[in-house]
Amino acid sequence: MLTTDSGFTINTLGAKVGAEIIGADLRKHLSAAAFAEIEDTFYRYSVVVIRDQELTTKELVEFSRLFGTLQINVRSKTKTKDADIRIMPDEQEAIYISNVKKDGKFMGSTDAGRYWHSDLCYEQIPSKMTLLHAIEIPEKNGVVYGATKFADVAAAYDALSRTMKNRLEGLVAANSFRHMWQRKADDFGTRMKLGDEELAKLPEDAIHPVVRVHPVTGQKCIYICDGYTNRILGMPEDESDQLLSELFAHMAKREFRYQHEWSLNDLLMWDNCAVQHKANFDYDPSLRRLMQRCTVMGDAIT
Ligand code: OGA
Ligand code: MN
Repeated sequence: MLTTDSGFTINTLGAKVGAEIIGADLRKHLSAAAFAEIEDTFYRYSVVVIRDQELTTKELVEFSRLFGTLQINVRSKTKTKDADIRIMPDEQEAIYISNVKKDGKFMGSTDAGRYWHSDLCYEQIPSKMTLLHAIEIPEKNGVVYGATKFADVAAAYDALSRTMKNRLEGLVAANSFRHMWQRKADDFGTRMKLGDEELAKLPEDAIHPVVRVHPVTGQKCIYICDGYTNRILGMPEDESDQLLSELFAHMAKREFRYQHEWSLNDLLMWDNCAVQHKANFDYDPSLRRLMQRCTVMGDAIT
Protein backbone atom coordinates (compact mmCIF):
# COMPACT_ATOMS: atom_id res chain seq x y z
CA MET A 1 0.00 0.00 0.00
CA LEU A 2 1.15 3.50 -0.83
CA THR A 3 -0.30 6.91 -0.02
CA THR A 4 0.45 9.57 -2.60
CA ASP A 5 1.03 13.29 -1.98
CA SER A 6 -2.53 13.97 -3.13
CA GLY A 7 -3.85 11.52 -0.55
CA PHE A 8 -4.73 8.63 -2.88
CA THR A 9 -4.20 5.12 -1.62
CA ILE A 10 -2.69 2.79 -4.19
CA ASN A 11 -2.86 -0.96 -3.74
CA THR A 12 -1.45 -3.51 -6.13
CA LEU A 13 -3.98 -6.15 -7.15
CA GLY A 14 -1.92 -8.46 -9.34
CA ALA A 15 1.65 -9.68 -9.47
CA LYS A 16 2.75 -7.09 -12.03
CA VAL A 17 -0.34 -5.82 -13.80
CA GLY A 18 -3.32 -4.47 -11.82
CA ALA A 19 -3.72 -1.80 -9.14
CA GLU A 20 -6.47 0.20 -7.48
CA ILE A 21 -6.66 3.86 -6.56
CA ILE A 22 -8.83 4.75 -3.59
CA GLY A 23 -9.74 8.22 -2.39
CA ALA A 24 -10.03 10.08 -5.71
CA ASP A 25 -13.11 12.08 -6.68
CA LEU A 26 -13.04 12.59 -10.42
CA ARG A 27 -16.05 14.91 -10.33
CA LYS A 28 -13.85 17.54 -8.75
CA HIS A 29 -11.06 19.44 -10.41
CA LEU A 30 -7.85 17.39 -10.32
CA SER A 31 -4.60 19.25 -9.74
CA ALA A 32 -1.84 18.62 -12.29
CA ALA A 33 0.05 16.73 -9.56
CA ALA A 34 -2.94 14.51 -8.76
CA PHE A 35 -3.47 13.74 -12.45
CA ALA A 36 0.23 12.90 -12.83
CA GLU A 37 -0.07 10.40 -9.98
CA ILE A 38 -2.97 8.70 -11.75
CA GLU A 39 -1.13 8.67 -15.06
CA ASP A 40 2.07 7.29 -13.51
CA THR A 41 0.07 4.57 -11.78
CA PHE A 42 -1.59 3.73 -15.08
CA TYR A 43 1.69 3.28 -16.97
CA ARG A 44 3.23 1.35 -14.12
CA TYR A 45 0.42 -1.19 -13.61
CA SER A 46 -1.30 -1.18 -17.05
CA VAL A 47 -4.73 -2.03 -15.57
CA VAL A 48 -5.85 0.42 -12.90
CA VAL A 49 -9.20 0.82 -11.23
CA ILE A 50 -10.26 4.07 -9.60
CA ARG A 51 -12.85 2.99 -7.05
CA ASP A 52 -16.14 4.61 -6.08
CA GLN A 53 -16.71 6.95 -9.02
CA GLU A 54 -20.33 7.95 -9.50
CA LEU A 55 -19.87 9.69 -12.81
CA THR A 56 -22.28 11.04 -15.38
CA THR A 57 -21.42 10.40 -19.02
CA LYS A 58 -20.20 13.96 -19.27
CA GLU A 59 -17.89 13.52 -16.29
CA LEU A 60 -16.54 10.27 -17.74
CA VAL A 61 -15.84 12.03 -21.05
CA GLU A 62 -14.21 15.00 -19.35
CA PHE A 63 -11.91 12.85 -17.23
CA SER A 64 -11.02 10.64 -20.21
CA ARG A 65 -10.12 13.71 -22.25
CA LEU A 66 -7.34 14.56 -19.82
CA PHE A 67 -5.40 11.65 -21.36
CA GLY A 68 -5.78 12.79 -24.98
CA THR A 69 -8.13 12.88 -27.94
CA LEU A 70 -11.13 10.58 -27.64
CA GLN A 71 -12.17 8.34 -30.49
CA ILE A 72 -15.61 7.96 -32.04
CA ASN A 73 -16.24 4.26 -32.36
CA VAL A 74 -17.02 2.68 -35.73
CA ARG A 75 -19.99 0.94 -34.11
CA SER A 76 -21.83 4.24 -34.22
CA LYS A 77 -22.18 3.66 -37.97
CA THR A 78 -23.19 0.02 -37.90
CA LYS A 79 -26.34 -1.75 -36.83
CA THR A 80 -26.96 -5.30 -35.64
CA LYS A 81 -30.15 -7.34 -35.90
CA ASP A 82 -31.58 -6.12 -32.63
CA ALA A 83 -29.24 -3.38 -31.54
CA ASP A 84 -28.54 0.13 -32.58
CA ILE A 85 -25.34 1.04 -30.83
CA ARG A 86 -26.40 4.33 -29.51
CA ILE A 87 -23.78 6.95 -29.16
CA MET A 88 -25.24 9.43 -26.76
CA PRO A 89 -26.18 12.57 -28.65
CA ASP A 90 -24.24 14.96 -26.46
CA GLU A 91 -21.32 12.73 -25.64
CA GLN A 92 -20.38 11.14 -28.95
CA GLU A 93 -17.17 9.76 -27.54
CA ALA A 94 -18.86 7.48 -24.99
CA ILE A 95 -20.55 4.20 -25.90
CA TYR A 96 -22.41 1.63 -23.87
CA ILE A 97 -21.04 -1.85 -23.37
CA SER A 98 -24.13 -3.62 -22.10
CA ASN A 99 -26.69 -6.39 -22.31
CA VAL A 100 -29.47 -4.03 -21.24
CA LYS A 101 -32.35 -3.35 -23.60
CA LYS A 102 -34.18 -0.09 -24.04
CA ASP A 103 -37.36 0.08 -26.13
CA GLY A 104 -36.77 -3.51 -27.24
CA LYS A 105 -33.26 -2.91 -28.56
CA PHE A 106 -29.90 -3.46 -26.98
CA MET A 107 -28.57 -0.11 -25.96
CA GLY A 108 -24.93 -1.03 -26.26
CA SER A 109 -22.44 -3.48 -27.62
CA THR A 110 -23.51 -6.86 -26.20
CA ASP A 111 -20.62 -8.85 -27.56
CA ALA A 112 -17.56 -6.72 -26.79
CA GLY A 113 -14.66 -8.77 -25.51
CA ARG A 114 -15.65 -12.21 -26.83
CA TYR A 115 -12.08 -12.90 -27.98
CA TRP A 116 -8.74 -11.70 -26.62
CA HIS A 117 -8.05 -8.31 -28.14
CA SER A 118 -6.61 -4.82 -27.93
CA ASP A 119 -9.17 -2.06 -28.46
CA LEU A 120 -9.33 -0.41 -31.88
CA CYS A 121 -6.17 -2.12 -33.13
CA TYR A 122 -8.03 -2.29 -36.46
CA GLU A 123 -7.64 1.47 -36.79
CA GLN A 124 -4.57 3.06 -38.35
CA ILE A 125 -4.16 4.88 -35.07
CA PRO A 126 -5.40 2.58 -32.32
CA SER A 127 -6.42 3.39 -28.75
CA LYS A 128 -3.65 3.85 -26.25
CA MET A 129 -6.13 3.52 -23.42
CA THR A 130 -9.67 2.46 -22.62
CA LEU A 131 -11.77 3.70 -19.69
CA LEU A 132 -14.73 1.54 -18.69
CA HIS A 133 -17.16 2.69 -16.03
CA ALA A 134 -19.34 0.16 -14.17
CA ILE A 135 -22.87 1.50 -13.75
CA GLU A 136 -24.58 -1.86 -13.20
CA ILE A 137 -22.84 -5.19 -12.65
CA PRO A 138 -24.34 -8.68 -12.83
CA GLU A 139 -24.81 -10.06 -9.34
CA LYS A 140 -26.69 -13.05 -7.97
CA ASN A 141 -26.78 -14.29 -4.38
CA GLY A 142 -23.97 -11.97 -3.44
CA VAL A 143 -21.68 -13.21 -6.23
CA VAL A 144 -20.55 -10.78 -8.92
CA TYR A 145 -20.11 -12.14 -12.45
CA GLY A 146 -18.81 -10.71 -15.70
CA ALA A 147 -15.18 -10.14 -14.74
CA THR A 148 -12.73 -8.87 -17.34
CA LYS A 149 -9.54 -10.84 -17.92
CA PHE A 150 -6.26 -9.23 -18.91
CA ALA A 151 -3.13 -10.72 -20.46
CA ASP A 152 0.20 -9.02 -19.80
CA VAL A 153 1.59 -9.04 -23.33
CA ALA A 154 4.89 -7.43 -22.31
CA ALA A 155 5.54 -10.39 -19.98
CA ALA A 156 4.32 -12.72 -22.74
CA TYR A 157 6.88 -11.21 -25.12
CA ASP A 158 9.69 -11.52 -22.57
CA ALA A 159 8.87 -15.19 -22.05
CA LEU A 160 9.29 -16.05 -25.76
CA SER A 161 12.36 -18.01 -26.79
CA ARG A 162 15.23 -16.11 -28.38
CA THR A 163 14.48 -17.96 -31.64
CA MET A 164 10.86 -16.83 -31.60
CA LYS A 165 11.82 -13.24 -30.78
CA ASN A 166 14.16 -13.25 -33.77
CA ARG A 167 11.47 -14.75 -35.98
CA LEU A 168 9.00 -11.98 -35.04
CA GLU A 169 11.47 -9.16 -35.58
CA GLY A 170 10.19 -6.79 -38.26
CA LEU A 171 6.99 -8.75 -39.01
CA VAL A 172 3.74 -6.91 -39.63
CA ALA A 173 0.16 -8.18 -39.51
CA ALA A 174 -3.31 -7.19 -40.73
CA ASN A 175 -5.82 -6.26 -38.02
CA SER A 176 -9.31 -6.50 -39.41
CA PHE A 177 -12.57 -5.11 -38.10
CA ARG A 178 -14.31 -6.72 -41.09
CA HIS A 179 -12.93 -10.15 -40.29
CA MET A 180 -14.00 -9.78 -36.64
CA TRP A 181 -17.50 -8.74 -37.67
CA GLN A 182 -18.09 -11.78 -39.88
CA ARG A 183 -16.56 -14.10 -37.30
CA LYS A 184 -18.87 -12.83 -34.55
CA ALA A 185 -21.84 -13.15 -36.92
CA ASP A 186 -20.89 -16.82 -37.46
CA ASP A 187 -20.05 -17.58 -33.84
CA PHE A 188 -22.87 -15.88 -31.96
CA GLY A 189 -25.62 -14.91 -34.41
CA THR A 190 -26.04 -11.55 -32.71
CA ARG A 191 -24.85 -9.66 -35.75
CA MET A 192 -25.94 -9.85 -39.35
CA LYS A 193 -23.31 -11.12 -41.73
CA LEU A 194 -22.49 -8.22 -44.01
CA GLY A 195 -22.35 -8.12 -47.78
CA ASP A 196 -19.48 -6.59 -49.74
CA GLU A 197 -21.06 -3.18 -49.95
CA GLU A 198 -21.61 -2.92 -46.19
CA LEU A 199 -18.21 -4.41 -45.44
CA ALA A 200 -16.60 -1.73 -47.57
CA LYS A 201 -18.00 0.93 -45.25
CA LEU A 202 -16.11 -0.56 -42.30
CA PRO A 203 -12.48 0.38 -41.65
CA GLU A 204 -9.90 -1.11 -43.95
CA ASP A 205 -7.53 -3.57 -42.33
CA ALA A 206 -4.76 -1.84 -40.41
CA ILE A 207 -1.21 -3.09 -40.78
CA HIS A 208 0.69 -2.99 -37.50
CA PRO A 209 3.90 -4.58 -36.20
CA VAL A 210 3.57 -7.98 -34.57
CA VAL A 211 5.74 -6.66 -31.75
CA ARG A 212 5.41 -3.06 -30.59
CA VAL A 213 7.71 -1.02 -28.46
CA HIS A 214 5.59 0.64 -25.78
CA PRO A 215 5.66 4.41 -26.45
CA VAL A 216 6.03 5.29 -22.76
CA THR A 217 7.68 2.37 -20.97
CA GLY A 218 9.83 1.15 -23.88
CA GLN A 219 8.82 -2.46 -23.19
CA LYS A 220 8.32 -4.78 -26.13
CA CYS A 221 4.73 -6.06 -26.35
CA ILE A 222 3.07 -8.63 -28.58
CA TYR A 223 0.54 -6.72 -30.63
CA ILE A 224 -1.35 -9.35 -32.60
CA CYS A 225 -4.63 -10.53 -31.09
CA ASP A 226 -7.13 -13.29 -31.61
CA GLY A 227 -10.00 -10.81 -31.95
CA TYR A 228 -8.73 -8.85 -34.93
CA THR A 229 -5.47 -10.15 -36.39
CA ASN A 230 -6.12 -12.47 -39.28
CA ARG A 231 -2.89 -12.48 -41.24
CA ILE A 232 0.83 -12.02 -40.79
CA LEU A 233 2.10 -10.55 -44.03
CA GLY A 234 5.02 -11.79 -46.10
CA MET A 235 4.59 -15.52 -45.48
CA PRO A 236 2.35 -18.30 -46.80
CA GLU A 237 -1.14 -18.34 -45.28
CA ASP A 238 -0.74 -21.70 -43.51
CA GLU A 239 2.49 -20.55 -41.91
CA SER A 240 0.79 -17.33 -40.78
CA ASP A 241 -2.17 -19.29 -39.34
CA GLN A 242 0.16 -21.62 -37.50
CA LEU A 243 2.28 -18.82 -36.04
CA LEU A 244 -0.77 -16.80 -34.99
CA SER A 245 -2.33 -19.81 -33.23
CA GLU A 246 0.91 -20.50 -31.42
CA LEU A 247 1.19 -16.89 -30.23
CA PHE A 248 -2.49 -16.65 -29.22
CA ALA A 249 -2.12 -19.79 -27.10
CA HIS A 250 1.05 -18.41 -25.54
CA MET A 251 -0.49 -15.04 -24.58
CA ALA A 252 -3.56 -16.70 -23.08
CA LYS A 253 -1.50 -18.67 -20.54
CA ARG A 254 -2.52 -18.24 -16.90
CA GLU A 255 0.91 -16.98 -15.88
CA PHE A 256 0.33 -13.72 -17.80
CA ARG A 257 -3.20 -13.27 -16.51
CA TYR A 258 -4.85 -10.72 -14.27
CA GLN A 259 -8.61 -10.75 -13.73
CA HIS A 260 -10.58 -7.68 -12.77
CA GLU A 261 -13.55 -8.46 -10.51
CA TRP A 262 -15.94 -5.56 -10.84
CA SER A 263 -17.43 -3.44 -8.08
CA LEU A 264 -20.15 -0.90 -8.71
CA ASN A 265 -18.79 2.52 -9.72
CA ASP A 266 -15.38 1.19 -10.68
CA LEU A 267 -13.66 3.24 -13.34
CA LEU A 268 -11.25 0.79 -14.95
CA MET A 269 -8.48 2.01 -17.24
CA TRP A 270 -6.26 -0.23 -19.33
CA ASP A 271 -3.25 0.18 -21.56
CA ASN A 272 -3.98 -1.31 -24.99
CA CYS A 273 -0.32 -1.82 -25.83
CA ALA A 274 0.75 -3.46 -22.56
CA VAL A 275 -2.28 -5.71 -22.10
CA GLN A 276 -5.01 -7.46 -24.03
CA HIS A 277 -8.42 -8.27 -22.58
CA LYS A 278 -11.38 -10.61 -22.80
CA ALA A 279 -14.78 -10.54 -21.09
CA ASN A 280 -16.19 -13.34 -18.95
CA PHE A 281 -19.63 -14.26 -20.25
CA ASP A 282 -20.42 -16.35 -17.18
CA TYR A 283 -23.73 -14.78 -16.12
CA ASP A 284 -27.37 -15.28 -16.93
CA PRO A 285 -28.46 -12.81 -19.64
CA SER A 286 -31.29 -11.67 -17.35
CA LEU A 287 -28.69 -10.10 -15.05
CA ARG A 288 -28.04 -6.54 -16.11
CA ARG A 289 -24.54 -5.33 -16.94
CA LEU A 290 -24.22 -1.70 -17.92
CA MET A 291 -20.91 -0.01 -18.63
CA GLN A 292 -19.88 3.16 -20.40
CA ARG A 293 -16.65 3.36 -22.32
CA CYS A 294 -14.28 5.91 -23.79
CA THR A 295 -11.13 5.19 -25.76
CA VAL A 296 -8.19 7.55 -26.04
CA MET A 297 -6.29 7.80 -29.31
CA GLY A 298 -2.60 6.90 -29.17
CA ASP A 299 0.27 8.07 -31.34
CA ALA A 300 0.77 6.69 -34.81
CA ILE A 301 2.62 3.37 -34.55
CA THR A 302 6.08 3.66 -36.02
C1 OGA B 1 -14.34 -3.24 -24.01
C2 OGA B 1 -14.35 -4.68 -23.68
C3 OGA B 1 -14.88 -6.21 -21.91
C4 OGA B 1 -15.86 -6.29 -20.79
O1 OGA B 1 -15.15 -2.50 -23.43
O2 OGA B 1 -13.50 -2.84 -24.80
O3 OGA B 1 -13.74 -5.46 -24.34
O4 OGA B 1 -15.62 -7.09 -19.86
N1 OGA B 1 -15.04 -4.99 -22.58
O5 OGA B 1 -16.88 -5.58 -20.84
MN1 MN C 1 -12.35 -4.27 -25.68
